[in-house]
Amino acid sequence: MGVKIIGTGSYVPEKVMTNADLMKLVDTSDEWIITRTGINERRIASEEQATSDLAYPAAVRALEAANINAEELDGIIMATVTPDQPLPSTACLLQKRLKNTKAFCFDLQAACTGMLYAVEVAHSMIQSNKKYNKILVVAAEKLSYITDWSDRNTCVLFGDGAGALVLERTESEDDSILATSLHADGSFADILKVEAGGSRIPMTAELIGSGRNCIKMDGREVFKLAISAMEDSCREVMNENGVTSSDIDWLVPHQANLRIMNMVAQRLKIDSERVYVNVNRYGNTSAATIGICLDEMIRGGMIQRGQIVLMTAFGGGLTWGSILLRY
Ligand code: ACO
Repeated sequence: MGVKIIGTGSYVPEKVMTNADLMKLVDTSDEWIITRTGINERRIASEEQATSDLAYPAAVRALEAANINAEELDGIIMATVTPDQPLPSTACLLQKRLKNTKAFCFDLQAACTGMLYAVEVAHSMIQSNKKYNKILVVAAEKLSYITDWSDRNTCVLFGDGAGALVLERTESEDDSILATSLHADGSFADILKVEAGGSRIPMTAELIGSGRNCIKMDGREVFKLAISAMEDSCREVMNENGVTSSDIDWLVPHQANLRIMNMVAQRLKIDSERVYVNVNRYGNTSAATIGICLDEMIRGGMIQRGQIVLMTAFGGGLTWGSILLRY
């Protein structure tokens, strides 16, 4: 038996924040942001919208595309660093809105690599246990809520959004997931973090204004590490499957920075026409980027059944990884 993606969905909030809007908040310029990151604009959730409100429309669209009812889901896995609340999981809150009553539900936190971690977990669960036939994987983030809008080093980078996909057990031997490589190195925990708001440094009124409840990043260091880590993990899955650069129909990298994506593609000898980019429109939506890309590409007819797609991501933890997919 194999596992296939039978539907995808995505959602981004309506509110557009342009580089010009950011110039009113911090000392930056459209030119700096575009040349250093490739970002023109990003989407920002309203105050009333929590992460599950972004996840819900993405999930509904994925279920519609899969042509199944929410009740058929055996599991819901939510990748997020911005849960609605500490307890219960955002996956449980989503389950309630979807009116599903039988699925297992849990959140998974692997920062920007969250979607790839969640796909690997869902895929392994379907493969190893006949009880699980259909699992919804959602990656959703309201990063605007943990963004320090006075820090020009980070606030220009992030946006809000959600991507979703449904994985289903199939009777055919063909498995869509050809190879996976997931990694983490907690010794780099300090270079990309939100340090306050958990049990180590509980939230206080003073902390809210201090920026310590927001994303802090040593961008230069992350930049260097991200390129080599993504290149290496891409090579791992390609080698494991005997696939060369010319066999890859699409490279779908985590959308953090256009320069990082271009350098990874160059090192892998994948020309830019085969690299999907939407960071210009949405910025970095952490775990959600790859799900949003896949949905846009599949709905837009860019990814066709049978094509080989290489997905790769890198984020806080540090975490990183790649998945080689035959759609
Ligand atoms: N506007 C204008 N100037 C700025 C801005 C800004 N928004 N931000 C920083 N600068 C300045 C800096 O202060 C610095 O000035 P200085 O030389 O006088 O000190 C100068 O620009 C260069 O700063 P660098 O940090 O070296 O800029 P760099 O080219 O590295 O770009 C960036 C910064 C975009 C953050 C880049 O390092 C990057 O993309 N890093 C990786 C991000 C990433 O992949 N994150 C992983 C996932 S995120 C997650 O897990 C949630």
